[in-house]
Amino acid sequence: MKGVILAGGHGTRLFPLTKATNKHLLPVGREPMLYHPIRQMVGAGISEILVVTSTDHMGDVVRCLGSGVDFGCRLSYRVQESASGIAHALALAESFAGGSPICVILGDNVFECAIEPYVAAFRGQGKGARVLLKEVGDPERYGVAALDEHQVIEIEEKPKNPKSHFAVVGLYLYDARVFDIIRGVEPSARGEYEITSVNNAYIATLELRYDICKGRWTDAGTFDSLAEANRILGGNDNRILDHDE
Ligand code: G1P
Repeated sequence: MKGVILAGGHGTRLFPLTKATNKHLLPVGREPMLYHPIRQMVGAGISEILVVTSTDHMGDVVRCLGSGVDFGCRLSYRVQESASGIAHALALAESFAGGSPICVILGDNVFECAIEPYVAAFRGQGKGARVLLKEVGDPERYGVAALDEHQVIEIEEKPKNPKSHFAVVGLYLYDARVFDIIRGVEPSARGEYEITSVNNAYIATLELRYDICKGRWTDAGTFDSLAEANRILGGNDNRILDHDE
């Protein structure tokens, strides 16, 4: 399995912190934000990782992360010219993936506990897709999963009237067909190629499974959530907890 970290966007909700740098290079605890998804992937046995970021700060991102040798992995980079949504950014990973299944992390997501068990579950699943859900108090900010007793039956992106409190967090596991699925995605009302449309395509063929996220989780795209990310990782000196801790 290969890894893809999506680290584009303009970070406008964190202005002026993002005036001169990329959101994903801001400090979380004792490290730049992007160290976390790399450490999570390496801990899950993923050693070839692509980082997708915008033109503005690619140089700084490469300076910060280098070849990957410090993390025990091999890093590649691709430029996303325009911020047209997560699925659009992911499409840039097709040749890198080369037919392998992929683990995708949104670069501003912070997980208190290791993602390794979810990656292992997807290796066992063999095909389709796997997402991670977390119960949150403000589901309207996220992709929200509607569930029956067994499975996710629909995901709505930032719904005004959420059907549950389960947010779909920024960790996605896909088989190699994801790139064909992305080619069939239409832009949403806000003009973006949504990752939620990709996930709904896997739901339509009954091939999307899920796990519930253990431990604390947050994105770090707003001042409040960045502070929470600092509490989560800073409190543990940036160490990722095992599930039995
Ligand atoms: C994105 C996704 C959303 C997901 C969230 C997790 O939203 O579109 O489905 O729940 O990441 O961080 P964004 O943070 O880009 O608004």
